[in-house]
Amino acid sequence: MFTFVRIISGIMISSLASGLAIPTLERRIIGGYDLPDNAAPFAVHLTSTTSDGSQFVCGGTLFTDRHVVTAAHCVYQPNGELYLPNSITVGYGSDKLSEQLSTPAIKITPHPKYGTTFEANTTVTVNDIAVIEIERLPSNKSVAPVRRFSGSIPVNSELIAVGWGTQVSNNSVSTLAKELKAVKLLVGDQQGCQKFDPTYVDANGPRICTLNKPRPGNSTCKGDSGSGAFVIVEGTVYLAGLDSQGGRLNDPTCGTADGYTLFTNVGYYLDFLNEVTVETINEINLASISP
Ligand SMILES: *[C@@H]1O[C@H](CO)[C@@H](O)[C@H](O)[C@H]1NC(C)=O
Ligand SMILES: *[C@@H]1O[C@H](CO)[C@@H](O)[C@H](O)[C@H]1NC(C)=O
Ligand SMILES: *[C@@H]1O[C@H](CO)[C@@H](O)[C@H](O)[C@H]1NC(C)=O
Ligand SMILES: *[C@@H]1O[C@H](CO)[C@@H](O)[C@H](O)[C@H]1NC(C)=O
Repeated sequence: MFTFVRIISGIMISSLASGLAIPTLERRIIGGYDLPDNAAPFAVHLTSTTSDGSQFVCGGTLFTDRHVVTAAHCVYQPNGELYLPNSITVGYGSDKLSEQLSTPAIKITPHPKYGTTFEANTTVTVNDIAVIEIERLPSNKSVAPVRRFSGSIPVNSELIAVGWGTQVSNNSVSTLAKELKAVKLLVGDQQGCQKFDPTYVDANGPRICTLNKPRPGNSTCKGDSGSGAFVIVEGTVYLAGLDSQGGRLNDPTCGTADGYTLFTNVGYYLDFLNEVTVETINEINLASISP
């Protein structure tokens, strides 16, 4: 079923100023469209429970059979502490939340330099990337890791962002999607993007910026945080970005013509991702040779 007003922006809403998720929301998609079943077997849903019992939601992407990549701001509690691994549940195996299987996080590794910068009255979340290790999930049609994109991303490239975030710009929890949504966004130019990220040069740096102007009403929104944004090259889907921050300037409202989304550029952080996954492999090897 096609729902027109749905995905505005995944996870980006203003919650970033504090580097945190918003209770039960983060960002989500407005406008956009429903994905066919199993179109995104790498997309996972994250539910986190804080030490005082509040719940937050985010998205993530399987990039190996035992690693999820998400935004770093999704793995910190509002009090600034990292979530304990078993307080983050990874939902996988279906676009429909009600049909997902789940597995607890085993280990959480945020980027060591995750944080925020404030410049020209604009707060930007930097190094907003984290890896969640889970038990190994063998692949099938509804569960599979995605390839990571490492090529160049020109202005006006199309990114397909996904998420289970809010579907209207008022960020009401009642509008969180129960089925995965997707939205096509266009990479912005330096001039348009510097308003939201003063140091932005292009989409080959640490962040990829998309602007709503060409397609107002289509955006990520709260609850989409951490979810993937993808490029399709010769029919193959690649993970390019992670929903990090968005809305309008200093305002979390999603989907307006003057709005934007900043995605962490996965291709820029391949060394970090490789380091974390190699560490896991070493741990497994060590364990297997222990008496
Ligand atoms: C920052 O905001 C203040 C107060 O709104 C304004 O006076 C100032 O011009 C702004 N500075 C920049 C660099 O935009
Ligand atoms: C697909 O694989 C997952 C584990 O990766 C498993 O839990 C699930 O049952 C499998 N689904 C089917 C239909 O085989
Ligand atoms: C947000 O929008 C939804 C759907 O249009 C509506 O049902 C809800 O009352 C709105 N919430 C607020 C706080 O405006
Ligand atoms: C928003 O996305 C939908 C679905 O992809 C599309 O039909 C619609 O034309 C888009 N809106 C604009 C203004 O491009």
